[in-house]
Amino acid sequence: MSDIKLNLPKLKGKVIAIDGPAGSGKSTTAKILAARLGYIYLDTGAMYRALTHFALANNVAISNEEKLTVLAWKLSIEFETHEDVNRVFINGVDVTKEIRDPEVTKYVSQVSAYKGVREAMVAKQTELGKNGSIVAEGRDTTTVVFTDADIKVYLDASVNERARRRLLELTKMGVSTNLEEQEADIVRRDGFDSNRTHSPLSRARDAIVVDTTNMTIEDQVDRIISLVKSLIK
Ligand code: DC
Repeated sequence: MSDIKLNLPKLKGKVIAIDGPAGSGKSTTAKILAARLGYIYLDTGAMYRALTHFALANNVAISNEEKLTVLAWKLSIEFETHEDVNRVFINGVDVTKEIRDPEVTKYVSQVSAYKGVREAMVAKQTELGKNGSIVAEGRDTTTVVFTDADIKVYLDASVNERARRRLLELTKMGVSTNLEEQEADIVRRDGFDSNRTHSPLSRARDAIVVDTTNMTIEDQVDRIISLVKSLIK
């Protein structure tokens, strides 16, 4: 744990939005940052994953935009954070592990590209963040969901490093895969996420870019905390 001192009362109520491509370290960084600041951690990607998992598990065709949009508005998606574990529930069912399944990863880009699905998710995310004290992480958090965030960070890293991190994470979860597969998946997802019509992956003009290729998670968190300290007077 870093020894950077925080003035917590002064930091209350702020919104920190963290964006970036798959495997850039957004989730881990945001989770640790939220814990250190005593903020809510909002993993927006997990919400799209939860919906995708629900559709796959209930035989809803991934091509059925209309039905997925209705589900996106109707389903309850909740988070529970205990220490460093962020659990995700859909209609009260814990789907924390299931949403990381390669099958979900394969289809989530398609689901998250639907306009209606995005509108429903953005509405839920805005509601969760209305009182501030939140670290929101995900593809459009700096450009669409929290355009007025107090701090916007765009995390980046090389494809190879991002694939290596994903591989470690998945292996730890018991998913069988390899580096080549993960590199190919990252390239495919970067392409899809950057070229889609609705909320493509892009850097907000006022986001601070942090290249994490050669950084540890601790370095990343410290870097953002330094930014928070320098930008929030
Ligand atoms: O960060 P992740 O891998 O859990 O994200 C899963 C997918 O959801 C990914 O294809 C990008 C998409 N996503 C999105 O479109 N908007 C967000 N705010 C977060 C994730």
